[in-house]
Amino acid sequence: MIQRRSVLVAGAALTGSLGGAGLLLRAGSSPARAADLPASGIAQFTQPMPVPQVLKPTFTSGAAAYYEMTMKEADAEILPGRTTRVRTFNGAFPGPVIKAVSGQRVVVRQTNRLDVPTSVHLHGAHVPSSSDGSPMDLIAPGGGTKTYTYPNSQPHANLWFHDHAHHMESETVYRGLAASYLLTDHVEQSLDLPSGAYDVPIALRDARFDDDGQLVYVMGDYAGRTVLMANGKAWPYFTVAARKYRFRLFNTANLRFFTLQLADGSAFQQIGSDGGLLEKPLEVTSVALSPGERADIVVDFSRYPAGTTLVLANTAPQLPGDPADQVGQVLQFRVTGPAADTSRVPATLRHLPALPPATVHRSFVLAMDETGLTGEAFINGRTYDMDRIDTEIEYGATEIWTVTNGNLFTPHNFHLHLVQFRVLERDGKPVTSGPESGLKDTVPLMPGETVKLQATFTGYEGTYVYHCHMFDHADMGMMANFRVSRTRRARRHRPVR
Ligand code: C2O
Ligand code: CU
Ligand code: CU
Repeated sequence: MIQRRSVLVAGAALTGSLGGAGLLLRAGSSPARAADLPASGIAQFTQPMPVPQVLKPTFTSGAAAYYEMTMKEADAEILPGRTTRVRTFNGAFPGPVIKAVSGQRVVVRQTNRLDVPTSVHLHGAHVPSSSDGSPMDLIAPGGGTKTYTYPNSQPHANLWFHDHAHHMESETVYRGLAASYLLTDHVEQSLDLPSGAYDVPIALRDARFDDDGQLVYVMGDYAGRTVLMANGKAWPYFTVAARKYRFRLFNTANLRFFTLQLADGSAFQQIGSDGGLLEKPLEVTSVALSPGERADIVVDFSRYPAGTTLVLANTAPQLPGDPADQVGQVLQFRVTGPAADTSRVPATLRHLPALPPATVHRSFVLAMDETGLTGEAFINGRTYDMDRIDTEIEYGATEIWTVTNGNLFTPHNFHLHLVQFRVLERDGKPVTSGPESGLKDTVPLMPGETVKLQATFTGYEGTYVYHCHMFDHADMGMMANFRVSRTRRARRHRPVR
């Protein structure tokens, strides 16, 4: 597969070059210090993986559900028997789940009791820019509030919300400020996919700890973050019945790419991606997720005898010296006895609308200073300036964006706010099937790779961002503003290169 090949190429680049390693990590990455907690000493598969609580609305009318959330510090047991200070929504790590229905508005009043400003972004959502959680639209620390309105005028999708305060989101998300938001609709509900206790969101990420069990944040510290977590626990286990489960996977890590595979190499089904279900289920043996991406999978455990344990492995290419026993495994499934199962995965999951013709073409190159000396990162040669509009878009326009990773060693990815897009091509090859054929809002870009995307900018006027979703890179400047407006401006025809 195209994606697999490019991952391997990137892996070769990473493992073949020290410069490349320095790159991905950038300045600041430092070898384990004496004060670090050795990840090798953390007991694996001893804690159960929790399923995040579903948040209850404070009030519901027919047209809207109202929620209250408080961002505050809390203590979490990430490592067995130890306590870690984290930044949370409502004290939960990861945050509570909001369940929403297409066509019913969700209104969330956020109160910031942290000691840093925040901006809450609902990733993947089609929302007015006033509720998008833009990098400059901050909620003051120490009790500031903001009310976000999510119209949910889009089909079902696995969304997630996280901090987006410029120059701070990288650390604040790392310290825990992320949660999932599951939007459903009648298309998804008409299917008999595994549901209830058999439908489980799993937020994946990594981290590094000091010997007090506290999170260590160093910008660009890919190599230091070797503790993998699922739903806020380091290397947990999850008990499953011998039947089908639906897992909604979220990569909430700042930098880490995951390639998830059952340790026995056996097949499962991928049924969805960022923007909801695929048209048809795919039979796969792995799913790849760059930071910010989601995958929806169905695993049938009925083939395993009771008592089986099975690791969910991470086979993404690693840096030389990366400890495989740490970054190579995510969690352990423990299969108990059989259970009734009336769920099924149909041959057709949904129909996606035909692509309208595009009228505007643009190109974007993502690159960072690979020497690691300046710590700067760019889109089309410029670092982020919150006061500069980089791309003017006519309301309603359908555009094709060619996005290239201009670096030699460093992977990036590309995330666009406001819209779900379609991937037309990857490295010149048409994408007509496979995991990228559904609706997407984030796509990986291995060094030198190019993707061609198509999006229609409709629904809202206003200013939004696009950026690399490796948060540390966005923080270094790999982010830009686009503005959707009905005013036809001459400069629209001279897009920034
Ligand atoms: Cu999940 Cu602008 O990001
Ligand atoms: Cu987003
Ligand atoms: Cu990047």
